[in-house]
Amino acid sequence: MGLSERLATAQRDRMEHAQTSTVKSSTATVAPVNRGEPVADPFAELKAAVHHSLLTALGPRLYDANLSQPDLEVMVREALQDASSFDEMPMTAADRTRLTQEISDDILGYGPIEPYLRDPNLSEVMVNGPYDIWIERDGRLNRVNARFANEAHLRRTIDKIVARVGRRVDESSPMVDARLPDGSRVNAVIPPLALDGSLLTVRKFAADPYTVADLITFGSMTPRSAEFLEACVKGSLNIVVSGGTGAGKTTTLNVLSSFIPTDERIVTIEDAAELQLNQEHVLRLESRPSNIEGKGAVTIRDLVRNALRMRPDRIVVGEVRDASALDMLQAMNTGHDGSICTVHSNSPRDTLSRIETMVLMAGMDLPMRAIREQIASAVDLVVHQTRLSDGSRRITHITEVERMEGDVITLQDIFVFDHSMGHDENGISRGRLRATGLRPKFVEQLNRNGVGVDAMLFAMDGGL
Ligand SMILES: Nc1ncnc2c1ncn2[C@@H]1O[C@H](COP(=O)(O)OP(=O)(O)OP(=O)(O)O)[C@@H](O)[C@H]1O
Ligand SMILES: [Mg+2]
Repeated sequence: MGLSERLATAQRDRMEHAQTSTVKSSTATVAPVNRGEPVADPFAELKAAVHHSLLTALGPRLYDANLSQPDLEVMVREALQDASSFDEMPMTAADRTRLTQEISDDILGYGPIEPYLRDPNLSEVMVNGPYDIWIERDGRLNRVNARFANEAHLRRTIDKIVARVGRRVDESSPMVDARLPDGSRVNAVIPPLALDGSLLTVRKFAADPYTVADLITFGSMTPRSAEFLEACVKGSLNIVVSGGTGAGKTTTLNVLSSFIPTDERIVTIEDAAELQLNQEHVLRLESRPSNIEGKGAVTIRDLVRNALRMRPDRIVVGEVRDASALDMLQAMNTGHDGSICTVHSNSPRDTLSRIETMVLMAGMDLPMRAIREQIASAVDLVVHQTRLSDGSRRITHITEVERMEGDVITLQDIFVFDHSMGHDENGISRGRLRATGLRPKFVEQLNRNGVGVDAMLFAMDGGL
């Protein structure tokens, strides 16, 4: 092939390539996204008019700090009944009640998602743009009919949520974490980061935090494993709770922390304070993002370091996800036994590799072997949790972290979830967490710490 032919072929290839890539990119941008459609609400105009006249009528009284929430609700309901435009439109009693509820939800609460936020049986509310709302019930996701009127309505609701905790969201800081007054955790992402409308995720917590008895009832743990975990916490072992997103790590961390004796001084460190401990001597710290000038951030790592100067008996960290792992290991290795944290991972072995990777993020250039040795001597136990396909959240491994053998940290499962029992007719797993029959090496250490452990706990069992 001559040079000119070669050039012509190359040019043709380039053009074809360019065409396919434009086709690809244009299909990517115009591809219809199934986000639900805005539905015309016959009462939309009326709602907007009543809403507006109410705000004018009640004005600043809505924000009167001396007014209690129930008083405010009565005021809004009365004003609604009086709103003249309400009477001009023929509507059924049911429509009127619904409209009243929707308008007061908008003014006093968080609009269309308010009923779901109030429902104690839901664990998560997810808004994917204004017209697509999902909820999680019993560990399963369902789409619901509620919708926001439009993107502006959704943005107003997000603004209201984040303003209450003194944060803001706009194009220069389009991602924000916040909390609702009841403690639910909120994350919001707005355009331009969110491509199809603002995204809002609310993680609800049971008003009464789950106790060990609840987790046993749910089948997340068994009485035996619970007794074992209680002994491990009382005996000051260092424990890492691991699992995927939403696997129930924080809930298990809370239950484990509830076993800490009441006479110990506990420092809790979190990104968004979710833990609810009942002990008397608890110091709660929360990290802080940077301000609008990019300054003033206080990270989990800063807080862990600071906590060491607060004479803690125990340090409980909500989630270790960065170089704070190094400080956590150092805390565990330097006399703050009995510290507990959570790590995002797929298995107990993966938990250790994640910790390794996070320690490397500290940029200290430590040799891998030194890091592994630190991990092996700091962490005593990994409690791994999974959200199964049936929606239930179960502890699948309780694993002892042994010592280094060669370059590898040896792990020994003490309890493992038995998947072999299959599923019942509703697709719910029949599996249970079972003792493997192995006795952990740290039982002597527990005994030295004055905590007796019944040897029968480790006998191969029928999943009791
Ligand atoms: N064992 C359980 N059984 C049933 N529901 C649970 C259980 N543990 C937690 N939940 C519920 O599941 C949701 C997620 O729990 P949690 O926040 O503890 O998970 P997580 O692993 O910490 O999540 P994330 O990765 O987002 O921090 C919560 O609504 C919680 O109430
Ligand atoms: Mg969590």
